[in-house]
Amino acid sequence: MKKRLVIGNWKMYIESPEEAKKLASALKRKAASYAGVEVWLAPSFTLLPILKGTKLGGQSVSAHAGGAHTGDVSAKMLKAAGATFAIVGHSERRAAGDSDEAVHAQLAAAAGAGLAPVLCVGELVREASGAHFSFIEAQLMSALRGAQSLTARLVVAYEPVWAIGKTAQDAMQPAEVEETVIFIRKTLAQILGRKEALRVPILYGGSVEPDNAPKLVADGGVNGFLVGHASVEVDSFIEILKACRK
Ligand code: PGA
Repeated sequence: MKKRLVIGNWKMYIESPEEAKKLASALKRKAASYAGVEVWLAPSFTLLPILKGTKLGGQSVSAHAGGAHTGDVSAKMLKAAGATFAIVGHSERRAAGDSDEAVHAQLAAAAGAGLAPVLCVGELVREASGAHFSFIEAQLMSALRGAQSLTARLVVAYEPVWAIGKTAQDAMQPAEVEETVIFIRKTLAQILGRKEALRVPILYGGSVEPDNAPKLVADGGVNGFLVGHASVEVDSFIEILKACRK
């Protein structure tokens, strides 16, 4: 696979245009440190139009193309605001009520409008029985059902829910990440065909920090990361990007 990809998910951490511009330009100033790594940023919707020169995306997207849906932001609106991708199925959105069905519809809406869908999957708990594998498989099957033709720019982010928003110590170990990434790729091959599946970048997310990024990238079999809290601290994010240089 070509370049590694790191996506910064700013969640609701960055609130004002001033703060957003400051963070984005600090990242740009240090751009040399991450030459060769693709960087995408997902700020809140309100900040999309003011950030330029970086690949931007929505943290979510409406399943609807338009019309009477108060509070929703459509894929077309995201594009008009400068986005090239949209995260779908993030566990925080799923916890707020997005069903598997909604995630499927959001993915189709994003892909149909020409945005790269970044599909998040991940188990709530990790069980010794291995039940988490069937959980992840069901999420992938449901989200990608019938959408094979729309997945040309698909990215999958594996984010075990229990490991999100903690510290590097609580994150997943590289061997477990690798095992799961292999499983995800096999499942993608069943859904999309082997050739397509090999092309899909699989990222890991869940407490990626400068302390664990190098090992996760070396031994976790991932093509990059989806980073939350560490993506809004310039030095931490730059360290993570450095770990991803080939
Ligand atoms: P975290 O968040 O890096 O703060 O764990 C990752 C995510 O939720 O995308």
